[in-house]
Amino acid sequence: MQFTDVLKTRVSTRSFDSRPVPDGAVQGLVEAALYAPVGMHRFETLHLTVVKNPYLLEYVRSIAVRASGDEAADPLHGATLLVVVSSSERGETAAMNVACLVENMLLRATDLGLGNLYVRGVIDAAAKDADFLSLFRIPEGFTSMASVAVGYPLAPVAPRETPKNNVTKVDRID
Ligand SMILES: Cc1cc2nc3c(=O)[nH]c(=O)nc-3n(C[C@H](O)[C@H](O)[C@H](O)COP(=O)(O)O)c2cc1C
Repeated sequence: MQFTDVLKTRVSTRSFDSRPVPDGAVQGLVEAALYAPVGMHRFETLHLTVVKNPYLLEYVRSIAVRASGDEAADPLHGATLLVVVSSSERGETAAMNVACLVENMLLRATDLGLGNLYVRGVIDAAAKDADFLSLFRIPEGFTSMASVAVGYPLAPVAPRETPKNNVTKVDRID
């Protein structure tokens, strides 16, 4: 896909079918994350957890159910792959680094024809859940900060003709 087409086709997917993400695509996502810029080259402050195991994905859903009290809560929307990004640092730069890895994965997933979603909310709750930390083998000293849910979209994604964001003000200064 042309890069501009990738940008226009990346949309948040909130309905996935049950097909698993092929290993080659998983590798492509990880590679994309590793190409991301990281402040002060502090690559060692970041950690990726790649999860296909349906029981672990269901565990993430159960965290959302507990946090919201809504039995139907499904923050992953049936995605068959979750990549959790953790950091050993906190603060603005750490969050920015995490976001760079996440965005690279969203774009690569789009390029591979996979639906994708930036999932932050439930990861915030998960980061405080001892069983999550153990099941997802989050390294000691790391905090899970965000994730990317990936899978095949139930409906094909059409590229947007114009950005969803027609609100952010842009000043041009020549
Ligand atoms: C930092 C950040 C956190 C987000 N967290 C969530 C989330 O937890 N759950 C969710 O469904 N979408 C989440 N999103 C997706 C946004 O809702 C979505 O990107 C936005 O509505 C724009 O829509 P689009 O992605 O289709 O362009 C998040 C996006 C960002 C950038």
